[in-house]
Amino acid sequence: MELRNHSLKLLSIQGKTKSPLRMIDCDRKMDKMANVTVLGSGTMGHGIAQIAAMAGFKVLLRDVEQRFLDSAMDKIKWSLNKMVEKNKLTKESFEQTLSRLEPVVDMKEGLKGADLVIEAVPEDLSLKRIVYKEVSSYADPKTIFASNTSTLPISEMADLTDRPGSFIGLHFFNPPQLMKLVEVIRGHKTDQSTVESLMTFVEALGKTPVLVQKDVAGFIVNRIFIPLVHEAVFCKERDGVTYEEIDAALKSKLGFPMGIFELADYTGLDVVNKASHEMHLRDDKVINPHPLIEKLFQEKKLGQKTGEGFYSYSSNKYERKDLVQADAEAFDPTVMLAVASNNAGWLLSNEVCAQSDLEKALRLGMGLKKDLLATAAEVGMKSIVEKLNEMSEKYGKFYAPGPYLLKFAG
Ligand SMILES: NC(=O)c1ccc[n+]([C@@H]2O[C@H](COP(=O)([O-])OP(=O)(O)OC[C@H]3O[C@@H](n4cnc5c(N)ncnc54)[C@H](O)[C@@H]3O)[C@@H](O)[C@H]2O)c1
Repeated sequence: MELRNHSLKLLSIQGKTKSPLRMIDCDRKMDKMANVTVLGSGTMGHGIAQIAAMAGFKVLLRDVEQRFLDSAMDKIKWSLNKMVEKNKLTKESFEQTLSRLEPVVDMKEGLKGADLVIEAVPEDLSLKRIVYKEVSSYADPKTIFASNTSTLPISEMADLTDRPGSFIGLHFFNPPQLMKLVEVIRGHKTDQSTVESLMTFVEALGKTPVLVQKDVAGFIVNRIFIPLVHEAVFCKERDGVTYEEIDAALKSKLGFPMGIFELADYTGLDVVNKASHEMHLRDDKVINPHPLIEKLFQEKKLGQKTGEGFYSYSSNKYERKDLVQADAEAFDPTVMLAVASNNAGWLLSNEVCAQSDLEKALRLGMGLKKDLLATAAEVGMKSIVEKLNEMSEKYGKFYAPGPYLLKFAG
């Protein structure tokens, strides 16, 4: 399996990708997966459509207006052209990829022949309800439905359709062209063959799937990342430190690739705010919401894309903050580590995922350079639990250490 996917990736890059049917003709389930429909051609949809077409799948890309599709196709061509310029794609493969992509406005036409539908419409349950009703009425009974939602309940959406057994979460990260991680989320009724088909599909895209066994708020990465953004704001207030000092400490002491405020600004505070609301709605124990996130969102300070979020930027282009190593000394990030480890422990003790998948997801999704629970063990589970107990007494039950950490603290 590993070897086969590796070959597929290499062939893609060199512009010689064969049809998925030929590449994987030894695999019964993947034999069925040749035609993919992507619903929504925005930030995520156009990227998912691009990587699926590059991997050899025939892709119908559906949006509600032609102008959205035109803009999506322009972005895809721009991205493929960049790869040709950098010798990562041949001209021939560029043409082949484009020939596998067809933009459509009509939903019925968009679903024709689909083995898999990947839904990437805006994160709004009432809109997704309408979309799934329409999709259910047109799609062939064999079609698998996958939602790219970041935070909405997979099981609830599955129950809106005529096929909850063939419904799954498929959470790509932004930008899908570059990010290796895809969380594959099992809903209450998702059947095993759907899980297996989608794990194989993700590998055929040259991505790394991690299996999320239970449909919990935030899945894996957002369950760790989103609460940490709020916690970092509390730390800033309680410890009287700066954004830079917190970010520098996370980088140099906890192996973060960038600070949490940098990452939130890069992700977009609209995305962080929306995820916070949805996650808190699903499970009010997962997040200790700080009002600053909502305030920045209301003020349209959305991070890099608007030139201001936690930090100010000279343009809306990607820009890293110049964090100074000396700043790291002003902040002790044990609380941040403790909150992240407590949430990670919750995922493990509730059997949401395997520990190896948890760490893989955090490495690929948040860029952590070191395993989170290994860092916690280095600091000492006992100290982490003591810190959480102290915080719980001062600031409430959100901080109470869960059974996983208590067990390891001895
Ligand atoms: N943006 C991110 O960083 C990110 C990351 C991971 C997952 N997601 C998830 O992916 C999904 C899409 O997010 P996005 O950021 O790409 O949104 P977006 O707003 O950029 O794009 C959504 C697209 O869907 C189209 N659309 C609306 N109704 C439609 C319909 N009925 N049929 C087809 N298309 C329709 C819109 O016109 C728009 O082009 C959401 O569920 C979001 O939570 C987003």
